[in-house]
Formats: sequence, structure tokens, C-alpha cells
Amino acid sequence: MMLKAVILIGGPQKGTRFRPLSLDVPKPLFPVAGLPMVQHHIEACAAVPDIREVLLLGYFPAQQLHQFVTDMIAAYKIRIRYLQEYQALGTAGGIYHFRDQISSGNPDAFFVLNGDVCGDFPLQEMLDFHTSLTSPSLITIMGTEATRHQSTMYGCIVEDKETHQILHYVEKPSTFVSNLINCGVYICSPDIFKRVGEIFNSRPDFYSLEDEEGTESIRLEQDILMPIAGTGQAYVYNTDRWWSQIKTAGSAIYANRHYLQLYRTTKTDRLATNGSDKPTIIGDVYIHPSATVDPSAMLGPNVSVGKNAVIGAGVRIRESIILGNTTIQEHSCVLYTVVGWNSTVGAWTRLEGTPCDPNPNKPFAKMDNVPLFNNDGKLNPSITILGCNVTVPAEVIVLNSIVLPYKDLPHSYKNEIIL
Ligand code: GTP
Repeated sequence: MMLKAVILIGGPQKGTRFRPLSLDVPKPLFPVAGLPMVQHHIEACAAVPDIREVLLLGYFPAQQLHQFVTDMIAAYKIRIRYLQEYQALGTAGGIYHFRDQISSGNPDAFFVLNGDVCGDFPLQEMLDFHTSLTSPSLITIMGTEATRHQSTMYGCIVEDKETHQILHYVEKPSTFVSNLINCGVYICSPDIFKRVGEIFNSRPDFYSLEDEEGTESIRLEQDILMPIAGTGQAYVYNTDRWWSQIKTAGSAIYANRHYLQLYRTTKTDRLATNGSDKPTIIGDVYIHPSATVDPSAMLGPNVSVGKNAVIGAGVRIRESIILGNTTIQEHSCVLYTVVGWNSTVGAWTRLEGTPCDPNPNKPFAKMDNVPLFNNDGKLNPSITILGCNVTVPAEVIVLNSIVLPYKDLPHSYKNEIIL
């Protein structure tokens, strides 16, 4: 069997809710648990022996992905290419536009993964389900259960409980339809291109559909899944493994925690350990091999420290992401915070955010719907985020604040966006 995988990575406009962290690096390359977000997808694809090529599809300028693609080919030893859309063509538009590249070599099927989801992707199990179906599936969707309240923020699936055929699909319905939601992971038969072509031809205005950004686009969910649902050619593969979306910078902390937790069972060598002359590690912590952490520092749980970062004596870090080339000086405390690249945090300073897990019992990280400001015009409590090249002086407190890149903070801040 020969398969391909397409990862939809979007483009510059797609990362706006991820600011200020996407101002310096394309959002799919933002490190979560020490790896660029989309490397987790590539790793999951590379673990499926039948996947022979991974195609990253997006509309970022090619040079922004070049080094990453080179590194990924070297790390995973499979074919990886970046296909650049000339503009945002939509989640199905890009796939249709590049159908010749996807179909070349006659793959039996191809995966499609949204680049902004994260999880313990059970791709092989999903493939086994897809290939075991007696009546062929044009598209198999990975689905998971959400609460009634959360479900309406996602694509909702009504299935035949016995056959898992999709009877009905609605994207972000205004009232409750089903607890079963679309995870943004699909297996498509190459025959889908014929069906998509028919859908296009039946709607001559298709290519002139405009999305919110005013560009022509075709959406996989509304334009393709909705008409295919109920025709007996779409199926859902149900999983109860960890899955979530990464839409906002805040959800990166949440995804970081879960990927670190996964390392515990799959990649223990990536997790820091305790030992003499080593910092104290609590729970799951990733430290890049080039980072310097003082042995008197205490890190964890759920902390990632990037390339060449320097963590001083007596520093305490919990539930945070410290990006590359950043220095945290002695005795500072960092909680629920993302510290951007090349930043400096002075001694005895406290950076603190408020965790915003949407629902600890059924934790989908759909925190995008929490408005930035509350009814009194105040910033809602959030994690603290420092953009890149920010300098925080010694002995201040930065609480629940978002700091844009290249800022020298003069004093303490609480619940503010510092522009
Ligand atoms: P929102 O909640 O509105 O963000 O909708 P959604 O969760 O359904 O996300 P959306 O369909 O916009 O995007 C899903 C994934 O596809 C994300 O990883 C996007 O970056 C990616 N994506 C979205 N639009 C495009 C596009 O035009 N081209 C490509 N290649 N990728 C896209």
C-alpha cells in the first residue's frame, strides 16, 4: 500500500489569533514541547510505514519553510515537500489545486491533517479502520466526543452507530447537533478529486466564492464534507485519545503540557531527568541540549526550554514555554507564561499568567471564544506572553499581560496589553 499525507499549514493571515508569537515565525513552526508544532504531525506520519511522502500545503513564502523542510527530511528520512498556494485557496482549494502532485505515483489514499490541531494522532489505527470498510470510503474523518456545549464550536458529525457511516455533517452549528466532532484529520480516497470536481461543476460560482479575507477559497468542511455526508461514502473513525486545537497563544501552553506527557510513554529520552549537578526537575520538562540551566534552578511541571536559553541560579519555572536565546536571570519566577525568543528577564522578577483551560474534565483547548476583554473593558485573565526581544527589568511583576516584540518594560504591569 502506498499513501501520502497532506498537512494544511495555512499562511500569514491564519496566525492572527496566535499573535504576538506568530509575528516572528510562521505559526506552524512555533515550538511546542521543544518541536515546531507541525513537526509533531510529521512525526506521526513518519511512524506510519505506508506513508511515503508528506506534502505541506500553505501560502507562506517558500523561503520561510525551506530550512524546516530540509531539517525534517534529514530527521525522518521520508520525502517531504512544501507546496505553496499563490493565495489562500481554502482547506479544500489547495488540495484540489495540487491534485496532480498528490495523485502522482498513484497513492491508494492520502491523509489530510489540519496543521493547527494537536494530539496523540492514532493514524495507523485510523488507516486500519479505513481499509477494513467493506463499502469504500471517499473520506474518513477522525472524530472525538465533545461536551454538548463545546460541540457547536466544531464540525459536528451524526453517524450510523453500527457502520460509522456519516449521515449528516454541520460545521459550527448554531444549535446542538451531535457530541461527535471533527478532529481535522482525514483519510481521502483519490476518487475524492472526481467527486470534488462534480461538486465544483454543479456550482459554477465556486471559484468566485469569497472567504472573510476576501479571497477565493473552497472549504473542505462546508463545501465538500456537507454534500458528501449522507451519500454512504463518508465514515467516521472515533478516538478517545488526547486531541485539541492550537488556535491561540494560550492554547500552546496546554498543548505543550500534553505533548510532554506523551513523551513519557513514547519518547522518554526527550524529557529532562534529575541528577547531581542538574537542576531540580518536577514532572515533565523539555530542555534543549544547547540550553544552560543552573543546577539550583527548579523547573516543572510542564516546561519547555528552547535552544541556547540561559536559566540562572534559583530560578523557578512552571507550566511555561521559554523560547530560544532567552535569558532568565537569577531567582526569577515564571508561571503560565510564554517568553519569546531573544528576551531577557531580570533577576528577582515574576512573570505570571492565569491558566485558561477551557474545561478540565473534557479539555478541548478551544479558548478562542474567551474574549480578550470583559464587559468592563478589562483584559480577561490569560496566560502572560512576551513577544520576542523583550527586556523585563529586575524586581518587577508582569501579571496576565501580553507584551509585543521589541519592548523594554520600564516597570510592573497587570492585566495589560503592552504595545
Ligand atoms: P476556525 O475556528 O475559524 O479557525 O476554523 P477551523 O478550526 O475549521 O480552521 P480552518 O478551517 O480555518 O483551518 C484548518 C487548518 O487549515 C489550519 O491549520 C489552517 O492553517 C489551514 N488552512 C486554512 N485555510 C487554508 C488555506 O487556504 N490553505 C491552506 N493550505 N491551509 C489552510
